[in-house]
Amino acid sequence: MQENNKQKTSSLNAKTEAWSGRFNEPVAELVKRYTASVDFDQRLAEFDIQGSVAHAQMLAAQDIISQEDLTVIEKGLAEVKQDIQAGTFEWLLDLEDVHLNIEKALTDKIGDAGKRLHTGRSRNDQVATDIRLWLRVVCDDAIAGIVKLQTSILDLAEQHADTIMPGFTHLQVAQPVTFGHHLLAYYEMLKRDVTRLADCRKRFNQLPLGAAALAGTSYPIDREMVAKLLGFDGLCENSLDAVSDRDFAIEFTAASALLMTHLSRFSEELILWASPRFSFIEIADRFCTGSSIMPQKKNPDVPELVRGKTGRVNGHLVSLLTLMKGQPLAYNKDNQEDKEPLFDTADTILVTLEIYADMLRGITVNKDNMRQAAFEGYATATDLADYLVKKGMPFRDAHEVVALAVKHAVQKSCDLSELTLENLQQFSKTITEDVFSVLTLEGSVASRNHIGGTAPQQVLLAIKRAKQAIS
Ligand code: ARG
Repeated sequence: MQENNKQKTSSLNAKTEAWSGRFNEPVAELVKRYTASVDFDQRLAEFDIQGSVAHAQMLAAQDIISQEDLTVIEKGLAEVKQDIQAGTFEWLLDLEDVHLNIEKALTDKIGDAGKRLHTGRSRNDQVATDIRLWLRVVCDDAIAGIVKLQTSILDLAEQHADTIMPGFTHLQVAQPVTFGHHLLAYYEMLKRDVTRLADCRKRFNQLPLGAAALAGTSYPIDREMVAKLLGFDGLCENSLDAVSDRDFAIEFTAASALLMTHLSRFSEELILWASPRFSFIEIADRFCTGSSIMPQKKNPDVPELVRGKTGRVNGHLVSLLTLMKGQPLAYNKDNQEDKEPLFDTADTILVTLEIYADMLRGITVNKDNMRQAAFEGYATATDLADYLVKKGMPFRDAHEVVALAVKHAVQKSCDLSELTLENLQQFSKTITEDVFSVLTLEGSVASRNHIGGTAPQQVLLAIKRAKQAIS
């Protein structure tokens, strides 16, 4: 590959560089390799061409170039696009980046008109535009991916609206909850992730073109026209800001880091639940791998990798913040380093969302194990305290009574609901026969019957609202 690049490099003379007139010697080979971005920014090609077509149409409408030039530019760019899509386009390292490669290929095809395309424009506003056009599509795809995952969550939650499991705090059994309710917590997190992505998209959907290198341009351009052609909501209103800030890339990566963090927490739970110690769920074989040495193993590789890849997206966020923090206005070449973290963030979240939605559909739930774990954990202790409070006892006293009752049950190795009425009355005479209905797991969850509560009835209502919201 390197050999290949070398060959391409030496077969071109220094005159192929866009700035060659100013220089007395060609750029050193190593420097070319160091400064080139074409290997990774070629994925912006489609958006670069889209931006160029709009720019050329505006130049013609403003009489900055002729209609004839526009016609050949449009035809030439369409051909370049075809070559790229067909895989026959020759990307040259000498031409540094996607912009210069496309411009040179266009000029090779159509001659002087190709050289006029760059009038009133710089690669600085061009690249800022390309990334935004690309990122718009990514945001839309990510939102669609989240909605697909939310649908999987809602379907699973619906099947388990009344499946009892232990709810944990400090990873200690706390109170019984329904599995459907637990899943809906992730639906809520993802709902906020959608709004973060949509909000960031709204903020960056402003046109940088027209800023040129940094100060604007002396040609009579029509920026509104270009914004309209490219579907931007408005214009970047300061040329220096337009070419230099990458806050939108940071925002997107921050939103992605949060999304991954949510999925990482979910993954951690799936891994725990799937372990033989919990045995709450099984993950379908197609999402697991075995061990080359231990025949009994079925490893939850997919959730583990989601948890692991979260680290990489968090890393990209730190890269981008660090990239930006010391830069003086306006454009600096540092900004070329925005692409790989940004591209990798997008690739990571999109594939993770896809695989996650599918993985959830392949989960089977061991209801009995979930229920048993809640039963063994004195999960209804709070219900007993609440029962006493409702009969007039101050909460702190009730707490103490229940603590003693739990201690007694621990000594007898049984659940609170397995103690006799006489046993329970040792701790408080206020307790009567009706206590047993609140000590059951089903009674406990059913009693939390308000918006946001774990009662099966509320879970079903929440699912209904959610399905309406995402349909
Ligand atoms: N490849 C560059 C980037 O990604 C394009 C802008 C280069 N501009 C310049 N003046 N060198 O940022």
